[in-house]
This record gives sequence, structure tokens and C-alpha cells, in this order.
Amino acid sequence: MTQPVPDEAARDLYGRLRRFLAGTVLDVGCGVGSVAADLSGRLILLDAVDLRGPLAAGFPFVLGDACALPFAAGSFDGVHLARVLHHVSDWRVALTEARRVVRPGGAIAVTLGGRMFASELSPLRDAVFDEGRRLGLRGAHHVHGPAGYEDVDAVLGAGEVVEVVFPQSDTARRVVVDAANHPYAWLPGQDLSPLRAVAEQMLARSGLDPDEPVIHERVISYRVYRR
Ligand SMILES: C[S@@+](CC[C@H](N)C(=O)[O-])C[C@H]1O[C@@H](n2cnc3c(N)ncnc32)[C@H](O)[C@@H]1O
Repeated sequence: MTQPVPDEAARDLYGRLRRFLAGTVLDVGCGVGSVAADLSGRLILLDAVDLRGPLAAGFPFVLGDACALPFAAGSFDGVHLARVLHHVSDWRVALTEARRVVRPGGAIAVTLGGRMFASELSPLRDAVFDEGRRLGLRGAHHVHGPAGYEDVDAVLGAGEVVEVVFPQSDTARRVVVDAANHPYAWLPGQDLSPLRAVAEQMLARSGLDPDEPVIHERVISYRVYRR
């Protein structure tokens, strides 16, 4: 689902974001911590689940809910919210909370994700997700996320666009394995092995060469909101 961002695009994107996110920044819904490693600086990580991997090492971590941040108003110079708003119980409350904990003059950087799979592999990935739900697995996405950045703007005011576009290579095998395994796709604590088995069969039946590279355009788009 999320392949690493190539070095050059990462330097460009996170370099531009750091101009807004100077000082102490709260990374809400940090996940494994991959963005934390790229953003660096004085970061505090927060997530409802502890998924931290080696990339998060060295950053303070707080277990908490984006919709009820355990911090006083104005505690941070910035808040970073990457691919989180579709996972929380009420995304408008999460945005209001982000604004509350940022000091006046600070910034909130939001990304909803990107068009990562606008390619011929998309239907296969979507079919694996559909199959998982048919098997009764609970997806990590809340159904009522923002429809787009206009929804976020309606809460935080007009945001400034910060984005990078770069080519990315994928294979049918990687897309299927990812959709059936990724910790961000399915709520933790579920047995994903039945889905893995079906996904293997779907790959075999798809008629696609499992290891043929498919190049598609990936966009990572942020909106930055001044408090
Ligand atoms: C798709 S991942 C994004 C992780 C990371 N921000 C990134 O972009 O790589 C979504 C993250 O939001 C977290 N999350 C879901 N609901 C949350 C909540 N109510 N409060 C805080 N984090 C939450 C999940 O545990 C998961 O780590």
C-alpha cells in the first residue's frame, strides 16, 4: 500500500513541510513511524494503537485518541495528520482537536492520502478489500471520512497545497500481498490468514503476470493550515 517515497521526492516534500512545521510537532496517528523519520525534528508521536517500528525509535510516543488529544491548548508549534482522518470516529472533531493544541501562528499539515493506485492493478486491490469485508474482517477505514480537501478547508479555512508527483513501480503480487496484510488496512487483532489464502487464488485467476512491473503516477498531496 505504501511503498517508500523515493529519496528525491521525500527530500522535496518533507523539506517544504518542515518550513511550516518548525519547533515541536505532534504527529497524530503516526502508525509505524515512517513519516516521523522523514519529518524528523522535535516530534512527539501519538496513535490509538502502538504500531511503532524501528523508524519511530528515539521519538517520544503517547497512546491516545486523535478526537480527544491529551494536551493543553497551544501545546505545539505544529500538528501533522497523515492518512488518519478516514480512520477516526469523527474527523471534524479530530481537526478541531488539532487546531486546539496548536499555538496561534503554528501550522497543521494534513494529507488524506493520494492517488496511489490509479493503474490497471487497482481493480485487483479493490477486489481483495471487498473479499476481506465479505469474510467479515473489519477494515481500518471509517466510512465517514472527509470526501476531499474542501471538507477539511470547511473546518480549518483555506489550506496551502504542498505536493509531490513521482512515478512508482508496482506488481500484481505486491498489491495483493499488501492488501491482504497491511496493518493500516485492517483493524489489529484479526486473523488475516483466510484472506491471504483467497488473495493468492485471486492473483492466480487474475490473468496478470504477478511480477510484471506496472508504472503508475503517485501523488502525495498535503494541505497546510495556519492557525
Ligand atoms: C493509514 S495509517 C497512517 C500512519 C502514518 N500517519 C502514515 O501516514 O504513514 C492510520 C493510523 O491512524 C491510527 N489511528 C486510527 N484511529 C485513531 C485515533 N482515533 N487516534 C489516533 N490514531 C488513530 C491508526 O492506528 C494508524 O496508525
